[in-house]
Amino acid sequence: MSREPAPRFGTACVHAGRELEGRPAPLVPPLVQSTTYGWPDLDHPPSISYARSGNPTVERLERALATLEGGGDAVCFASGLAALDGLLRCLPAGGRVVAGRHLYGGTTRLLDRFTGGRLVVDLVDSTDPDQLRTSLERPASLVLVETPSNPTLRITDLRAAAKWAHAAGGALAVDNTLLTPLFQRPIDLGADLVVHSTTKYLDGHNATLGGAVVVGPGRPVGGVPRDGPWAERLRFVRKATGTTLAPFEAWLTLQGLKTLHLRTRAQWEAARRLAEVAHGHPAVVAVHFPGLSDHPGHEVHRRQAVGDGGLVALDLGSYGAARAFVSRLRVFTIAENLGPTESLATHPASMTHSDLTAERRRSDGIADGLVRLSLGVEDPEDLEADLRGGLDALLPVPLEAA
Ligand SMILES: Cc1ncc(COP(=O)(O)O)c(C=O)c1O
Repeated sequence: MSREPAPRFGTACVHAGRELEGRPAPLVPPLVQSTTYGWPDLDHPPSISYARSGNPTVERLERALATLEGGGDAVCFASGLAALDGLLRCLPAGGRVVAGRHLYGGTTRLLDRFTGGRLVVDLVDSTDPDQLRTSLERPASLVLVETPSNPTLRITDLRAAAKWAHAAGGALAVDNTLLTPLFQRPIDLGADLVVHSTTKYLDGHNATLGGAVVVGPGRPVGGVPRDGPWAERLRFVRKATGTTLAPFEAWLTLQGLKTLHLRTRAQWEAARRLAEVAHGHPAVVAVHFPGLSDHPGHEVHRRQAVGDGGLVALDLGSYGAARAFVSRLRVFTIAENLGPTESLATHPASMTHSDLTAERRRSDGIADGLVRLSLGVEDPEDLEADLRGGLDALLPVPLEAA
């Protein structure tokens, strides 16, 4: 029997999630805004009875995300942090979480301040294989990593992390927000769960706040099928805590998904171009971009990802230089967020990672002079000129010109 070939990624971005709809199916999914659903009688509850437990528009986004990540199911939450919190709430009391120390600042804040007394959290440098392997010689319930990490773009070896997490009896969860499934599919590399802040590239238009956990397709680990129980537990947590994604946010995200492959390829191209410009510029102390051959995680990154994403982080040496640089930018907007069509410049120490202590930021490589650039889809020539203008303004004025 001949089987239809699986759609390529771009085709899946446009069509994923439509499979279950009757024909003729609307190309733009219906936005279902209903708090409650009627029961024919008490013996036949509807499949969705109340908006906190589910919604057809949100379910369509869940199907699309599961398809794009190669997962078996996905559960959407009100934000990326709500998705991470939902995941942590699924763990048994006393469970051990081994988390990478290079994570988005909000994830670190969640682990630091809201797991105490219930979970044991060990932070390790997951980019160092020896540290990760040693920490997983003891049992763990969950290993949580970001690769590349936000904002320093460090790389963790996902195949090795999956092997050691499973040997420790735990699941590997990967926050794949920065690369999206276009560039990296953690489940194919052995991960059990993939987390997204859909707020970022998946929506891509600075229009929503949302999150998701994608669950692997039922790979048995230690004899326990991980698919059903995880998705069920996540849905139960979401219902119990009320952290459901709103239908309109899901609807907007579904529209954004259709151009994910076009936007993110263009953003990667622009990021590579600007990383190369910054790399040779005398005002720059260090450039963090996993596509550069001198990036410490470059080789591992090349083995597990097919693209480098649209972020570049520049260390400009001091807070003063970072401040002067961002004030000079005209095409980039100084703002928190990453991944949208508009290019953004973020100063992690005073914005996304400001809740970490200065000492902690320093030990995690988040210098006061670090600026994270998120490339949008403007003309790359304009972005390059803006970068050059900002960097040139940091150079000492030559004596003859003064
Ligand atoms: C890698 C990563 N994960 C999770 C989050 C949290 O997502 P949200 O802002 O949607 O709660 C962010 C936000 O910046 C992020 O960068």
